[in-house]
Amino acid sequence: MTQYAPTQSTAGIIADLRSDTVTTPDADMRAAMADAEVGDDVYGEDATVNRLEAELAERLGKEAGLFLTSGTQSNLVGMLAHCQRGDEIITGRGYHIYKYEAAGASVLGGVALDPLDVAADGALEPDAIAAAVKDDDSHHAITRLLGLENTHNGHAVPLARCQQAVDAARAADLSVHLDGARFFNAVEALGCAETDLSGIFDTVSICLSKGLGAPVGSVLVGPRDLIARARRWRKMLGGGTRQSGILAAASLHALKHNVDRLTEDRQRAARLGQALSAYGDVTQATNMVFFTPRNGITPQIISRLATSGVRLSGALGTTRLVLHKDVTDAGLEAVISGFEQALA
Ligand SMILES: Cc1ncc(COP(=O)(O)O)c(C=O)c1O
Repeated sequence: MTQYAPTQSTAGIIADLRSDTVTTPDADMRAAMADAEVGDDVYGEDATVNRLEAELAERLGKEAGLFLTSGTQSNLVGMLAHCQRGDEIITGRGYHIYKYEAAGASVLGGVALDPLDVAADGALEPDAIAAAVKDDDSHHAITRLLGLENTHNGHAVPLARCQQAVDAARAADLSVHLDGARFFNAVEALGCAETDLSGIFDTVSICLSKGLGAPVGSVLVGPRDLIARARRWRKMLGGGTRQSGILAAASLHALKHNVDRLTEDRQRAARLGQALSAYGDVTQATNMVFFTPRNGITPQIISRLATSGVRLSGALGTTRLVLHKDVTDAGLEAVISGFEQALA
């Protein structure tokens, strides 16, 4: 394997806590990408993409997989493959597919979204799901799909809570999709088998470019016929790519090397949450810490930490701090002392 020295645009940054999407591929991942066997994936001839799709589907107990450019595209083609025009999806008001995906299923697929309040643990309440299912009446959209999210705002939603929601959906003959952008963070925190979580759902969307550290890529897994429909939607959306094995190789590398280490991110988040609790309100869940200092997060605090190489985002007085593979123990200590100085 050739060694590649990464050129990163992260000079001077000790810890970027804005998201786990900011990770950069390390030398081993780049080497795996450079050495990937490739072909034209629109012809189905990219061996590395085919391997990624098959491996992840098998790992999660599904018939087939589809490699996509992003979590948004993966959720979108999943929803479009489940639904027809005039159908409806029940989902969470604060979930990504409702709030942060530009209503793609409605814009492009003529599909309505009915959002429910999300419980504190990230789940949807079964009674609310049952009540949201529409009668068979020409006044209504046809309720077709339940979309859950796990993790949600870092919360690993317990299996029993996922199952209760899904039972309510199944009782109304709905299909169920999981936005598992951080599926492996959920599995790690729940301490369950991967198939315990994936097995509850018909389709699961997984991101490789968040905590797992790949530069690009999501995979949708599910039944073979549904994945074939999703592949058609992907092509229609301009998401058919050619020698994308270069990217799939990064995802395969991430699945092999970066799943087990998610425990470290959760442990560092716990350490950070504990240190910051002296200065304000803290909620920690998996690799995320939501921190509201007593006087709120101010532009001054953000710029003060930036001068010590720590990047933060802040909205409405709260900052979401996300731990990931590019934040080391030394980086974490720099974050804690940066906050201590800024808030003292
Ligand atoms: C829960 C969740 N789902 C889906 C997505 C969409 O992923 P992408 O940014 O790759 O489109 C995100 C992105 O942060 C997310 O947090």
